[in-house]
Amino acid sequence: MAGRGGFAFQPGHLLAGKYEVLEYLGGGWQGEVYKIRERGTRVERAAKVFYPKRNVRNRTASTYAKKLHKLRSCPILIQYHTFETIRHEDRNLTLFISEYVEGELLVNYVKRFRGNRLPLFPAVHLLHALAVGVESIHRMGEYHGDLHSENVIVQRLGLTFDLKLLDLFHWGPANRENRHHDICSLIRIFYDALGGQKAYARQPQKVRDICCGLKQSLIRKKFRNASELRLYIEARDWS
Ligand SMILES: Nc1ncnc2c1ncn2[C@@H]1O[C@H](COP(=O)(O)OP(=O)(O)O)[C@@H](O)[C@H]1O
Ligand SMILES: [Mg+2]
Repeated sequence: MAGRGGFAFQPGHLLAGKYEVLEYLGGGWQGEVYKIRERGTRVERAAKVFYPKRNVRNRTASTYAKKLHKLRSCPILIQYHTFETIRHEDRNLTLFISEYVEGELLVNYVKRFRGNRLPLFPAVHLLHALAVGVESIHRMGEYHGDLHSENVIVQRLGLTFDLKLLDLFHWGPANRENRHHDICSLIRIFYDALGGQKAYARQPQKVRDICCGLKQSLIRKKFRNASELRLYIEARDWS
């Protein structure tokens, strides 16, 4: 599939003289992402091609790269590899090369369940996996900044969820506010995965005890950090 009205690189197109485009993976506010194969090694990667207006003086891409590099030991995050500048239709474009993640976007994964929503048990496991991942990011003095169901890839659901997070956004220095925002976003993902507003009134009390009606001030009081959220989930009786 071609990119949505942007660069529309087609399968077979060669980027930076060495990356063959295999397919369009998706796009959002910042750019388009393609699955690519490196010539010579045949290693598959993902290349995010930034829209120049979202990446002035390469700031967005380089901040993202530095964060992913700093957080490279967090298993929930994609691994950054390298970046290249290419010339395309009289513009310089940044190719941001990262690990290619096999799996399904959370937003699509949820749609495969009856009623387009997860049953309670998998939803709690999802929230737990997210809390563990975000806890490791916060412990390293960073935050994600753009947690929603199109930035989460479900790799596998076995006993627990294997997840990868993409697309960190830099709102400024890591502080309590940014970390709190991540926690509220996790709870929002949980709430949406369970059916959102339509299903909320019928959710059991233990779900509502976590979601707090999505009131940020209540969430903040209840879960002062990601560890508290994780420990809370672990201590509750989910039967
Ligand atoms: N490393 C990757 N592996 C697999 N798919 C990816 C990868 N990175 C991005 N994608 C896909 O491309 C989409 C857009 O990527 P993203 O980095 O979130 O861009 P944007 O900042 O424009 O939202 C994602 O929602 C996902 O579907
Ligand atoms: Mg995104």
